[in-house]
Amino acid sequence: MTPSESKGGGSASPEAPARASGVDLRVEGLRKSYGSVVAVHEVGFEIPAGKMISLIGPSGCGKTTTLRMIAGLEQPDVGRIVAGGRVLVDGDARLPPEQRDLGMVFQSYALWPHMTVFDNLAYGLKRRGHAREAIAAKVAEVLRIVGMSQYGERYPGQLSGGQQQRVALSRAIATEPGILLFDEPLSNLDAVLREQMRFEIRSLQQRLGITGVYVTHSQDEALAMSDQIAVMRDGRIVQIGRPVEIYGRPVSRFVAAFIGLTNIVELHGIEARGGGITGALPGGGSIRAGVGAISAALSRGTAAVSIRPVEIAIRRDAGSADADNRLAGRVRTTAFTGGLIDYFVDVGGGLELRVQTTPPAAAEPGEEVTLSFAADRTVVLED
Ligand SMILES: Nc1ncnc2c1ncn2[C@@H]1O[C@H](COP(=O)(O)OP(=O)(O)OP(=O)(O)O)[C@@H](O)[C@H]1O
Ligand SMILES: [Mg+2]
Repeated sequence: MTPSESKGGGSASPEAPARASGVDLRVEGLRKSYGSVVAVHEVGFEIPAGKMISLIGPSGCGKTTTLRMIAGLEQPDVGRIVAGGRVLVDGDARLPPEQRDLGMVFQSYALWPHMTVFDNLAYGLKRRGHAREAIAAKVAEVLRIVGMSQYGERYPGQLSGGQQQRVALSRAIATEPGILLFDEPLSNLDAVLREQMRFEIRSLQQRLGITGVYVTHSQDEALAMSDQIAVMRDGRIVQIGRPVEIYGRPVSRFVAAFIGLTNIVELHGIEARGGGITGALPGGGSIRAGVGAISAALSRGTAAVSIRPVEIAIRRDAGSADADNRLAGRVRTTAFTGGLIDYFVDVGGGLELRVQTTPPAAAEPGEEVTLSFAADRTVVLED
């Protein structure tokens, strides 16, 4: 029995906290094709109760299709989905969407324009047969949670985009679903509001113990909102892990470049060195890399490595002799972006590295500098 069913028949206590009591979710081997287009290929992941997973990837990579299969709006060709011990889909056996105990928040807020905010929220509770007083108490509670208490009598058309999205969010949590599904819920908001709502949703999700699947193509959102990130490409999950793992140990060029800024450097003449590798730069000199796809690089003899701009130190002097990697270069250009300064540094052989530091500026355009970075921050990519 689900939390919402257990409170059916109007027995919900008005004092009950708006706990979404998330359940764990397991997705196994999902596949979906439309004619000859395979939209989703063998997608699988697991998320514990009360945690949030983001599905991120470029347009058309299968994020929405995956979410819609969880919601029951699309039927997978094959695969299995289990939530809180209940089988939602297994081959041809499937629960209809309304029995899946899920809430959804979309990019288009999908509020009913002819209903007040109160009625938008009350609708799902009425359908579940809650008593009138219990509904009023629940609606008041979820509106308070999203900071919209004074807007119950307004119509959606009388609210800003951010306010409408808050109402959509409160509607999704009002029925206390086991899992909340989000499909790019913030992409219609302006940059400032999007940033703010990101933290509001994350805080709400953590406070209420909601299990969430969050679809986005924004790396900043995925990094800030999630316990796990699944990076998708062409219908497949290409890497899954905690945000720090995805950011710090990308497995491929695609993931390294898609999640965060990075420098990708091609090396040849790969040799083993202290548990990692060393490889030659096109213009002379070499780089040591300590983590990632080391054995693949050794057998291939060439490698691409990723170094984040914030991991590179820049100095006007020669720097410390015991740095794993030291490269001499000349600053081509700098840019001040508020919290950080960007430097584009020519290190010879046609290679330019991007470096970021906090202010004050460590060097000016035209200056000779030394760049240094650690081998264990230099990640060997698979491809
Ligand atoms: N109903 C459909 N009929 C045919 N093809 C579809 C259908 N729905 C999705 N597709 C195709 O499946 C692939 C995955 O689409 P999906 O909507 O899941 O991508 P997405 O990752 O959500 O992209 P976006 O970031 O643009 O929303 C795309 O190639 C898309 O054209
Ligand atoms: Mg989509």
